[in-house]
Amino acid sequence: MLDSKIQSLLEKIRDKKLRKKVADLLKNPSFSINGKEYSGVSLDASPAGLSHHHSYLGGFTEHVVSAGAIALAMCDCVEEVYRGVVNRDLVVAGILLHDVFKPLTYKVDESGDYSSARLADYLDHSSLIVAELVRRDFPLELVHIVAAHHGGYGAVRPRTVEALICHLADLADSRLNGDVLNAASYLVRRIVGEDLSVMSSKEAFEIVHCKAAEGEDGVKKAYKRIVQERKARKP
Ligand SMILES: [Fe+2]
Ligand SMILES: [Fe+2]
Repeated sequence: MLDSKIQSLLEKIRDKKLRKKVADLLKNPSFSINGKEYSGVSLDASPAGLSHHHSYLGGFTEHVVSAGAIALAMCDCVEEVYRGVVNRDLVVAGILLHDVFKPLTYKVDESGDYSSARLADYLDHSSLIVAELVRRDFPLELVHIVAAHHGGYGAVRPRTVEALICHLADLADSRLNGDVLNAASYLVRRIVGEDLSVMSSKEAFEIVHCKAAEGEDGVKKAYKRIVQERKARKP
């Protein structure tokens, strides 16, 4: 079963054949090499990064859903403002698959923390997914989108409007999330003198909002509220 928000993004792919290929990969995001299968942590639980952004339980899903919303808004701009042509199926498929092998590069330690799996010593998530997309005979245009999603830092730069949109949406969402997480951690450390380890996006956005609305007192109150909520959730 796919997460409902991932499922609704998937349903936006109108080409049935492409939708099925994307769904098959999302439902079984595994990679085989030399007779060994790698499946990593589950998509639902996985973070989308270990430190820079979405570095918490469920971060992968949040990142894909948020990057998907940004990418679709950019498709609207291309069509409605710039009168350009964009293939939304390719954009949605690109967003859904661009990081789908990140969970293969993570493992969960005994303490419950995420760290790099051995596979990540050999290949990064982008090389892994490009290899798998080629093996599964995905359209070349989609393989390009995924190969180019890291922009200037990737194997190839975006050369189509769809690839550029996916790269920019990925980058924008990573920064939106990562910068707010960093700012919230900094505010709590400086104002409360504590470390709120593994902050969720909801907590981080709350802290940053409270600082803007009520200053340092707002941060202290938000910190207290978050600690109480965490205690209440513990079994
Ligand atoms: Fe990536
Ligand atoms: Fe990403």
